[in-house]
Order: sequence, then C-alpha cells, then structure tokens
Amino acid sequence: MSKITIKDINLSNKRVLIRVDFNVPLSNGKITDDTRIKAVLPTINLALENKAKLILCSHLGRPKGKVVPELSLKPVANYLENLFPNRVKFADDCIGEKVKEISLNLKNGEILLLENLRFHIGETKNYDDFAKELASLAQIYVNDAFGASHRKHASIIGVPKFLDIKAIGLLMEKEITNLSKLLTNPEHPFVVILGGAKVSDKIGILNNLIDKVDYFLIGGAMSFT
Ligand code: 3PG
Repeated sequence: MSKITIKDINLSNKRVLIRVDFNVPLSNGKITDDTRIKAVLPTINLALENKAKLILCSHLGRPKGKVVPELSLKPVANYLENLFPNRVKFADDCIGEKVKEISLNLKNGEILLLENLRFHIGETKNYDDFAKELASLAQIYVNDAFGASHRKHASIIGVPKFLDIKAIGLLMEKEITNLSKLLTNPEHPFVVILGGAKVSDKIGILNNLIDKVDYFLIGGAMSFT
C-alpha cells in the first residue's frame, strides 16, 4: 500500500489534527461501548511518543448543524482524561478564536479534543470556510476515522485541501491492508456477514461485493429490507 502514514511524518513539536471516529454509543452521558476509542489508541500513543500536540476531532450522532447537548463529546474527553491524566483539554466548539488559542498553547504530548464537528452544518455540507477554519488549527492532518471516511464531509475531504502535510493513521492503515487483501485476492469460500442499523448505506456495499463473494449472511434490520 503506497499511502503516507503517520509513521512517515515528523510529528515532534507539531500541532496534528487527527480525524477520529468517536461516534460511540452513550446512555445517560456514559459510554456504553468504547471499541472505537480503543481502536485509535495506537495512533494517539504513537503521536504522543513522538512529542506531537494532538488535536482530535470527531462527529457524534447526527445533530444536523445544531448544538445538541446530549451529543457532546465531553464524555469522551473524560474517558481520555482517565487514560492520559492531566494531558487532556476539551474545547466546547471545534472552530473559532477560543479554540485556536487553546490549540496554539498546546504543549508537546498534550491532547485537545474538539466538540462535535456536526454541531456545525459546514461539516456535513463540506463547506470550504468550515474546513479552512478547522485546518487552521494544525500543521498536519491525519485521518484515522475509518468508520466515517465514506462521508464527503469537511473533516474528511475538505481539511486535507488546506494542509500540505497529511497522512493516514494506524487504524486506517490496518483496515485498508486487510480490506485490500480481501478484495483483491480472497480465499474461497468468501462469506460476508452484514448487519447494523444504517441499512441504506449497506446497499452500496452489497452491490460492490456481489461479484466477489460466495455468500452474504445478512442479519438484523437489514434482512427485512
Ligand atoms: C458510523 O457510526 O457508521 C460512522 O461513525 C459514521 O456515522 P454516520 O453514518 O452518522 O455518518
């Protein structure tokens, strides 16, 4: 795979904006499944070991451009604070002067988690001015949001236009490597198991895979559609 990864970049003393997928399930403000956070820890640890200043950004749910307090990323900031005591800051917005100031004052090895990107409509509409503002927080862009990278959103495809140094994270590298193997040279029988809530999104996947697989096993809500 010929992608530039975070391992290829000098991160020391640099502000690195990492797009992650912290779209975790919450119940009464508590994270009920932390799989997605754990999945990006290798990237976060690597950046910290290399003395970067980390700016993490993510969406959570679908607030449609409005501030929805229940969809705040604050619980994720608390979770990270437990893992990295005294190193985590939380910004109550993802763009703006206040956020810029916090990001400029970050020390090496500190983490700033930005508030939910989708509180701004510019994220899902991929507005250039929103992407530019986000990009202005950092010197390097890293995409490790594998679960969200099919979206044509500002933090996925807009921000990299405004930063010269960009790379993928370790989770993205792992997923692309595994998927590439499966899609180019799979062992047979090749069985794909699909389920999940976002049924309409999966139709495209089925169409893409139908000539490659031997069997689809479809469960949950998808099987009714
Ligand atoms: C997911 O949970 O599938 C990803 O985080 C993407 O979320 P989205 O479907 O709301 O874009």
